[in-house]
Amino acid sequence: MFRELEDKLVLVVGSFQGIGKAVVTTFLAENAKVIAADVVYENADLKELEERLYTVKLDVSDEEQVEDLFTRLEDRGLVPDILVHVAGISTMDYLTESKSSDFQRNWEVNTRGFYLTAKHYTRLLKAKGKKGKVIVVDSQAGKNGYRAMAAYVASKHAVLGLVKTLALEVAEDKINVNAVCPGIIETGMKHRERIEGGKIRGLTPEEVQAEDNSQVPLGRTGTPQDVANVVLFLGSHLSDYMTGQAVNVTGGMTMN
Ligand SMILES: NC(=O)c1ccc[n+]([C@@H]2O[C@H](COP(=O)([O-])OP(=O)(O)OC[C@H]3O[C@@H](n4cnc5c(N)ncnc54)[C@H](O)[C@@H]3O)[C@@H](O)[C@H]2O)c1
Repeated sequence: MFRELEDKLVLVVGSFQGIGKAVVTTFLAENAKVIAADVVYENADLKELEERLYTVKLDVSDEEQVEDLFTRLEDRGLVPDILVHVAGISTMDYLTESKSSDFQRNWEVNTRGFYLTAKHYTRLLKAKGKKGKVIVVDSQAGKNGYRAMAAYVASKHAVLGLVKTLALEVAEDKINVNAVCPGIIETGMKHRERIEGGKIRGLTPEEVQAEDNSQVPLGRTGTPQDVANVVLFLGSHLSDYMTGQAVNVTGGMTMN
């Protein structure tokens, strides 16, 4: 669809399953080259999985690993045209009952993880005098409060602060920085949240799912592909005049 993405190099962080996996297949379908990084991979160096697709182990909460990945990419002359940061976790508990270690973990992966990948990626782009695009999969929880999700909500709000600030700082380098804010998307994370959230509220996962469905104006929850489609738009030239934005992909659930 976007012929310009042919042979472009896209680094997708948090790519093994769910939304990240859909982002990988969407860019591959555009004939882009994809480096799929995720904490679950075991190879510390790039491994060719199939034509145009490489995998690499990366824990976004470990600065040494993040810095090392960008150094190794630079050494091989591989400077990504696009960074898509998808990696994220969530925990569920009412704030008054919650563990501060859970708060810390959400912050480490969701907020500091994006801070690290965005920092080292834009540093590399600036050193090379190359333009690029930073896209982060944030959440509608970056804009609204949700019961029993304070640590996640806080971490996702903070990501939007990073997006707006970095967008200003690298605008003159022709680097666009934008976020996608999904609503309720059918992935492993969402299925686990229905079990854990249901337990806290005395509901079955099926009851939580029925509640989810009823909250979406477009009448259905989202698929990973719904999100990947908007990520693709933000990676293409069609979004060249957008930066510092947080685009909702929520079926109408969030409108601000
Ligand atoms: N599913 C939803 O309803 C929903 C809604 C809004 C936002 N999101 C966000 O979308 C993103 C993807 O969520 P998903 O639903 O596909 O979840 P998921 O759990 O299915 O996938 C998350 C991926 O991130 C990877 N990951 C986790 N910690 C990592 C780390 N430290 N370093 C590198 N990779 C790591 C996991 O291995 C996994 O492949 C997350 O940031 C999530 O907060 C999801």
